[in-house]
Amino acid sequence: MELFLADELATLELGKQLAQLAPATQFTIFLEGELGAGKTTFSRGLLQALGHKGNVKSPTYTLVERYDLATRTVFHFDLYRVVDPEELDYLGLDDYFSNDALCLIEWATLGSEHLPTPDLVLEITYQNHARVAKFKAHSTLGEKVYEQLHK
Ligand SMILES: Nc1ncnc2c1ncn2[C@@H]1O[C@H](COP(=O)(O)OP(=O)(O)O)[C@@H](O)[C@H]1O
Ligand SMILES: [Mg+2]
Repeated sequence: MELFLADELATLELGKQLAQLAPATQFTIFLEGELGAGKTTFSRGLLQALGHKGNVKSPTYTLVERYDLATRTVFHFDLYRVVDPEELDYLGLDDYFSNDALCLIEWATLGSEHLPTPDLVLEITYQNHARVAKFKAHSTLGEKVYEQLHK
């Protein structure tokens, strides 16, 4: 099922919805789509809904940015610059995918088997000047969120 995102505000709003629907336990979302599709915009909507004030930039060089917010910790990854998935070994990934964190991962395919299976995959594609969002669930928790989103 596709969700139409008419403008940037709609993408921010979708992020906000996910902030509300994601369970309080560990939850991972892969964000797919070309450069400029809106992966970081979605992440900003989610982070701001959880109380983050200020800007959100793709952590292209540091690979991951940590946000300690009132209700939970969010890790925002951008693996665009990863050449060899082994680079991820140095990040100590196990800590990120435990401890009830919410993990958002841009360019997850570049991390390949070093990453866990996500609960949800969000794919954003261009439709003229707007965007279309499509979710896929990969876990029971992901399915629950998926159902809420499309109600
Ligand atoms: N639904 C939308 N329709 C049109 N433009 C959008 C939409 N969502 C985001 N944008 C714009 O597209 C760009 C997306 O950038 P960004 O979120 O950094 O993309 P990515 O992280 O996927 O590379 C921003 O300039 C934003 O204003
Ligand atoms: Mg980005």
